[in-house]
Amino acid sequence: MKVKLICATTTDGYIARHSTEITTWTKDLPLFKQQTMNKTVIMGSNTYNTLESELRGRNVVVVTRKDNPKTIIQDIAKKESECFIAGGGRTNSRFAAYITDVYLTPHPILFGKGIRLFYDKTIKAKTKLVKAIPVPKTDGLFQYHFIVIK
Ligand SMILES: NC(=O)c1ccc[n+]([C@@H]2O[C@H](COP(=O)([O-])OP(=O)(O)OC[C@H]3O[C@@H](n4cnc5c(N)ncnc54)[C@H](OP(=O)(O)O)[C@@H]3O)[C@@H](O)[C@H]2O)c1
Repeated sequence: MKVKLICATTTDGYIARHSTEITTWTKDLPLFKQQTMNKTVIMGSNTYNTLESELRGRNVVVVTRKDNPKTIIQDIAKKESECFIAGGGRTNSRFAAYITDVYLTPHPILFGKGIRLFYDKTIKAKTKLVKAIPVPKTDGLFQYHFIVIK
């Protein structure tokens, strides 16, 4: 089962200025849409509340603190061979142990403070860069695909 973390970051490693920020600074939404279409996308309740429109064509699983990440991953694995984790920082942390791949798009902006990619618990492992994917219609942005070597 592939569990793919997908996220846009700032150059200093933040994913949002605060928990309720509506993300307007990212340039990789069309690529995110293409990669996640017809897939299951797991996100935290804060992230879900910031969405301005539904993620059409995706099976969105919104998690709260009551949900058990292991059970969620096991249930998805019964039917699918991959799923995406799409934030925010708390949710990325809660699912950290299951992440097999990381898709990161660093953006040319710095926040100085805010929501980090992982709130607390993170992956302690090496990663290997698999591919740098050009983000269409941007001025040289790339999405970096890493695999986690456990
Ligand atoms: N740049 C990007 O690509 C990107 C991607 C995704 C998200 N984001 C941004 O990330 C931000 C949200 O991140 P986030 O980390 O605040 O939220 P989040 O991970 O989206 O959601 C918070 C999660 O943590 C739980 N939680 C809250 N307080 C908790 C506590 N004290 N103990 C245990 N669990 C707790 C929540 O459960 P309850 O529902 O029970 O409170 C929920 O499951 C938004 O601004 C969003 O736009 C950016």
